[in-house]
Amino acid sequence: MKFKTIIEPFKIKSVESLPITTPEEREGYLKREHWNVFGLKSQEVTVDLLTDSGTGSMSSEQWAAIMRGDESYAGSHSWQRFHDVVSDLTGYKHIIPTHQGRASEKILATITVKEGDIIPSNSHFDTTRANFEFVKAEALDLLCKEGLDLLSPSPFKGNIDLDKLEKILKEKNEKIPFVLMTITNNTGGGQPVSMENLKKVKELCGKYNKMFLLDACRFAENAWFVSQREDEYKDVEIRDITKEAFRLADGCTISLKKDGFGNIGGILAFNDDDLAEQARNLLILTEGFPTYGGLAGRDLDALAQGLKEITDKNYLEYRARSISYLGEKALSFGIPIVQPAGGHALYIDAKTFVPHIPSHEYPGHSVACEIYLIGGVRTVELGTLAFGVAGENGKPDEPSTHELVRLAAPRRTYTQSHFDYVAEVLEKLAENKEKLKGYEIIEQPKQLRHFTAKLRPL
Ligand code: F0G
Repeated sequence: MKFKTIIEPFKIKSVESLPITTPEEREGYLKREHWNVFGLKSQEVTVDLLTDSGTGSMSSEQWAAIMRGDESYAGSHSWQRFHDVVSDLTGYKHIIPTHQGRASEKILATITVKEGDIIPSNSHFDTTRANFEFVKAEALDLLCKEGLDLLSPSPFKGNIDLDKLEKILKEKNEKIPFVLMTITNNTGGGQPVSMENLKKVKELCGKYNKMFLLDACRFAENAWFVSQREDEYKDVEIRDITKEAFRLADGCTISLKKDGFGNIGGILAFNDDDLAEQARNLLILTEGFPTYGGLAGRDLDALAQGLKEITDKNYLEYRARSISYLGEKALSFGIPIVQPAGGHALYIDAKTFVPHIPSHEYPGHSVACEIYLIGGVRTVELGTLAFGVAGENGKPDEPSTHELVRLAAPRRTYTQSHFDYVAEVLEKLAENKEKLKGYEIIEQPKQLRHFTAKLRPL
């Protein structure tokens, strides 16, 4: 029997209380932090949708695994358990543990990329891009045209444009160290990549003799969408879809703070012996010995358990449904969102929602502040404040392509009533939208300004 109500497929054993604040208090907190939500203290935030990274809840089995943690410096039992799970899941020959995704990216960029190289991808995540640009290479996004059209739904908006990929592989072959596919595509709205697209990327990489890597932070969410949207996979177990996806590539980087169900952790993995050796040599300098990377034995054990739990289809169904439910509510209030809703987050298109606020007055930031002021819900702007280029000598900023606000859901942390509460906040946001005003920056650092910039409302 199929029920209409999709329940959280877990019960709660340990709770953490949430602060309930007044509108006056919230205004005071934001003002104190110069209207930057990154400055808020967590005890001033009622529902925190800033990120899904490292913010999930561990299961009782994971907490039990923590107690099994073996803190031997080399060859710990925790490492063996972690290694067995990751190698069964991914099939890669060499598994290298790191403390988080960007540590894997840093090592990858150092050993494989040189000045003038080009790394084609569906879309690079910011830290991935920054690590490649740091070694003066070009991080090239080749997202398919469906992915570029924010507001129209399409099943696999994370796919890469295969014609563009082939063209660059042909024309700039010697400049390309590898192709990197991000699953799901965070930058483009948490959208999945089809198995068909991954198989074609593999084929092209074979034809042009290039290594194929995955940025697989949200591999289980990607597999869930594949099972729902790609006919050939509708009766395939999620675990088997993820195994097949990993085996199409020659290696991966993963931030285990997402689909590892971890609060910290990462992986760098290769089939290539020589690359793995170089990576391990660098790992020892920057992270730690190859059987723990940047992690404690107990972390490795919690992650090994998390990686077993993440492909549970009941969990993935509840997760995808919470976000698509919020998406349906937003649309019903007339709030334009990236469609369909993503695997880990809902993205509001602020450019379409508040067209009276120009890019250089940060429409996404204005929406994010308003969402906090209404209900203490913290979200993040992904628009000109985060990605634009600051204008010099009083000139306006160079805007970013999109003005998005991301509502990212921590894993297994919030229940249906929390999502109903957030929906109510969005309803009030829609009622207030004409009143929203732009912001100006009064102080900003040279890099990554959105984390610490000081602003004021116009
Ligand atoms: N790749 C993707 C696709 C990501 O979303 C992230 C992190 C990383 C790599 C880097 O991993 O944080 O462990 O170093 N995304 C977080 C976010 C920060 O909020 O989207 P990390």
